[in-house]
Amino acid sequence: MGKVKVTFADSEKTVTVPSGTRLIDISQDADTGIVYGCRQCNCGTCMVEVVDGEDGLYPPSVLEIKVLEHHEGGAHSRLACQAKVVGDVALRPRPRD
Ligand code: FES
Repeated sequence: MGKVKVTFADSEKTVTVPSGTRLIDISQDADTGIVYGCRQCNCGTCMVEVVDGEDGLYPPSVLEIKVLEHHEGGAHSRLACQAKVVGDVALRPRPRD
């Protein structure tokens, strides 16, 4: 399995991780502070905005799309607890109200 680069745009931190790793695990290991709740594709708390390299993530599942829509995620939004990396990607936490 190859390695990919994940950049957290808000903290300007870039880490190299194995392909197939979930964003939330990468964030925790890199101490980037993406907030999460259920980790089970339910609460929407872990929503992030992909700012570059959307092809660097596995496509969202039907359930992830449903949760993103329910929590008003934009076109470039993903759930960090669900999205797995397959290529280089840059993201930032979804702005909070
Ligand atoms: S932590 Fe709840 S949907 Fe990701």
